[in-house]
Amino acid sequence: MTSPLFSKTIKHFNVLDSTNTEAENWLKEKKPDEGSAVLADFQTGGRGLGKNHWESAPYMNLLLSVILYPEFVKAEDQFMLNKIVSLSVKECVRNILDSNDVRIKWPNDIYVGERKISGILSRNSILGNHIMNTIAGIGININQTKFSANIPNPVSLKMITGNDFGIAEVLNELLKILEINYATLKKNKFAEIDKLYLDSLYLYNQQANYFANGKVFSGIITGVSNFGHLIVETNHGIREFDLKEIQFLNK
Ligand code: BTN
Repeated sequence: MTSPLFSKTIKHFNVLDSTNTEAENWLKEKKPDEGSAVLADFQTGGRGLGKNHWESAPYMNLLLSVILYPEFVKAEDQFMLNKIVSLSVKECVRNILDSNDVRIKWPNDIYVGERKISGILSRNSILGNHIMNTIAGIGININQTKFSANIPNPVSLKMITGNDFGIAEVLNELLKILEINYATLKKNKFAEIDKLYLDSLYLYNQQANYFANGKVFSGIITGVSNFGHLIVETNHGIREFDLKEIQFLNK
């Protein structure tokens, strides 16, 4: 299969451990062209953030890992990659649903309203002060309507619309947008990307409750640092949180 945009190879598997692992192995063997991707109908060991597992019923959803070589991005700016991938998935889902209610929930989720439709697991390999390669792993819930009870607030395109969607169409839409956003990053348009990201950020500039360091507190998300830390304004000043250091409670 060929990607319409990067015009590079997409390796399509029926069953894989994880598309991210397959992409890592592909990178070890050779240097696939930029934009090459691994697609699976089912993963036996789908990986999520931290120790989480990514659940996806066979043939129901998009399970994809895209290989990029953002050597032009400095190591300290690596969260920009996370931003353009998140923005691309958000725009893709937003276009398909024709809805403004699609947001990026820091650090790596895409939400429709209060429910999670997509998770992103990106890995950057750094050499010196630059990024050598990136594997952007993306799961989008498309036609699955039943999820395990332990998955927090999942949703799919079908659950929202009642319709089935072609996985290939979602894939094409996503790659088209990702290529555009990647080109924007290549032109170093950081301010443009930052604005789009903050405009899309779940609970940005809104008062909400959080849990960190054993305490519940109220705060307002005011941004995300270059390192990808969440910046929250609280009654005790401005605080920054790394992945897994803060939990979102409710609005
Ligand atoms: C998360 O929400 O914790 C991130 C989930 C990322 C899931 C995708 S599915 C395709 C790719 N392959 C994996 O093993 N994980 C990512």
